[in-house]
Amino acid sequence: MSTRRAGTLHLNVFLHNVGHHESAWRLPESNPIADTDIDHYRDLAVIAERGKFDSVFLADNPKLTTDIRRRPSGTLEPTVVLTALACVTRRIGLIATASTTYNDPYNLARRFASVDHISSGRAGWNIVTSSGAAAARNFGLDDSPPHHERYARAAEFVEVALRLWDSWEDDTVVADKRRGVWGDGAKIHPAAHVGKFFRVEGALNVPRCPQGRPLLVQAGSSEDGRAFAAQHAEAVFTAQQTLEEAQRFYGDMTTRVARAGRDPGMVKILPGLVPVVGSTESEAQEMADALDRLILPEYAKLQLASRLRLSPDELHLDRELPANLPQESEIEDVKSRFTLIVDLARRERLTVRQLIERLGPGRGHRTLVGTAESIADSMQHWFDNRAADGFNLMPAVMPSGLEVFVDRVVPILQDRGIFRRDYEGSTLREHYGLSRPANRFVPDRSRL
Ligand SMILES: Cc1cc2nc3c(=O)[nH]c(=O)nc-3n(C[C@H](O)[C@H](O)[C@H](O)COP(=O)(O)O)c2cc1C
Repeated sequence: MSTRRAGTLHLNVFLHNVGHHESAWRLPESNPIADTDIDHYRDLAVIAERGKFDSVFLADNPKLTTDIRRRPSGTLEPTVVLTALACVTRRIGLIATASTTYNDPYNLARRFASVDHISSGRAGWNIVTSSGAAAARNFGLDDSPPHHERYARAAEFVEVALRLWDSWEDDTVVADKRRGVWGDGAKIHPAAHVGKFFRVEGALNVPRCPQGRPLLVQAGSSEDGRAFAAQHAEAVFTAQQTLEEAQRFYGDMTTRVARAGRDPGMVKILPGLVPVVGSTESEAQEMADALDRLILPEYAKLQLASRLRLSPDELHLDRELPANLPQESEIEDVKSRFTLIVDLARRERLTVRQLIERLGPGRGHRTLVGTAESIADSMQHWFDNRAADGFNLMPAVMPSGLEVFVDRVVPILQDRGIFRRDYEGSTLREHYGLSRPANRFVPDRSRL
């Protein structure tokens, strides 16, 4: 058994429709049109807050999936959803995805500053560069910009956003009714940015937000993605299948963060985890099997073929993947997930049908099927062995899978002293153990 690591782990829940398993919506208990039902998201956020989670998270991609026959495909705009969730929760952090390729820094910095004000300091931004031609064609482009260029734009985007979030000093607003002075213009600092991708003159039209700036989250695991995360991310979502891979990723990120001159303790690494919790191992397995039986392999094959850049005819359900697959360097969209899927299939010599079943619960994220005790054991093992600082929980079915995790797994983690019994702070940064950033335009008086 490994030695106990000091500290406590962090839990985010990835809210995704009625669950991450691709068949979740077909279960008798599931509402197949919950994707536009704010009460559904509200219920999930309230359950997660009862479980003292650090945060909830919403993914996003500015396009309609090509396969709406296969699963629920409506997606409400995530920052709009977060404002609704902010009004029905008090403590839990609220993270939304937004693309640096298909937004402008001014609009987006304003939107996240607004969510941070509305939630009293609970906003987080999952920074993505969005892959694929379909999204590009919604924004006047023929194809997605190349991977490297998307990350170069993302770096400049974040730099501008940081300037905008600092463009008001904390004490700019004086609101002196007697003198008739509302704000101090000397404490406004225009972004004055001229770069390769953006020209932004002004200061933001929203005062500095409670957290100073939202929590910055990143989820790309390719070379460019890791380099970007090392510079900017405060939490990293990642998909890792085995303890050894996760430890390698953790070690690599820690080294990169230190090399970038930052404290690695200030970056929380959160691999995805799809729990299927039963009262016994066999009950959990029956639940997982029931979900897998609802997968339509022909549909799933189309999706797999597109991820692997193959024609569907090249995949045979009862054979292994073909030998002549592209290299990661040839993939322009989701490089790291491509490699994860190919490695998984090769390592375990899976047929296409078996691979589809393995991807069904969480699209390549690690699935744990078992009792609350065995799932807590595995989480602790990864935490103690520096494969994770916590987890991005992706219940196969929601709300039931989240509820059972909160009611059965969380108390075990609390009894072992590795998860909070209650919130200690009130902002998202405080939940993740991060300080409020100084304003770059204000001299640090302690050093004068
Ligand atoms: C948990 C998780 C959530 C993600 N959410 C989104 C998302 O909402 N939108 C998106 O475009 N990409 C999302 N991604 C994909 C990554 O941001 C990234 O684009 C992808 O891993 C490809 O980047 P890479 O080529 O650097 O690995 C997510 C990835 C992970 C692991």
